[in-house]
Amino acid sequence: NFGNKLHFYLNGSSVEIDNPDPDITLLNYVQSIGLTGTKLGCAEGACGACTIMISSYDKKSDKISHISTNACLTPLCSIDGKHVVTIEGIGNVKNPHPIQERLALLHGSQCGFCTPGVVMSLYSLLRNNPNPSEEEAEGCFDGNLCRCTGYRPILDAAKTFANNTCVENNRPYEPQENVGCGKADCCKLNNVDTTFNHNFSQINFKKYDPTQELIFPPSLMKY
Ligand code: FES
Ligand code: FES
Repeated sequence: NFGNKLHFYLNGSSVEIDNPDPDITLLNYVQSIGLTGTKLGCAEGACGACTIMISSYDKKSDKISHISTNACLTPLCSIDGKHVVTIEGIGNVKNPHPIQERLALLHGSQCGFCTPGVVMSLYSLLRNNPNPSEEEAEGCFDGNLCRCTGYRPILDAAKTFANNTCVENNRPYEPQENVGCGKADCCKLNNVDTTFNHNFSQINFKKYDPTQELIFPPSLMKY
């Protein structure tokens, strides 16, 4: 922070604001500059429609952390020196992020109001851990409410990113490959959680490549 100047990054671009209003929330701010993908639902931290990701660098541990956050409760002035990523920063209709694509293909979005928040919760998890367990993939939605889908298709989409290891071949299962090891008695078909349908091999999902994500701005690593 330089005097009364707020400095942060938003979707990969540097932003400086002179004399920022301490009453403004991060949600107010992003919507005021036209980033309306982040939604206002409850305005009190209960619905997750306003979820964005805040990345920060910890000098002591020399580590970057990514946290999904309710923008409706986050003061704009609290993001000095951080990198804010909103839904607009990760994909769009022409070039959706794999999370957006899989949610759409697996019917995890109906009215769509909760969808940006759902996407950002999963996105934040994957930024910290590109190979989450199924439990972690499910748990990242603890703060997201959806009134349309009943959650099942959202979880189906999220679990396509989970680290499902084929017991027989001891290798990660990729949803765009043939199911598991390809054998009729494959563990993917028979031994694992049958609550969810993992057999989406007929869908040609865009591959998820964590190396293609927005980097943490090096200039913020001096904070
Ligand atoms: Fe509901 Fe922010 S608008 S948690
Ligand atoms: Fe309508 Fe989730 S798709 S609230």
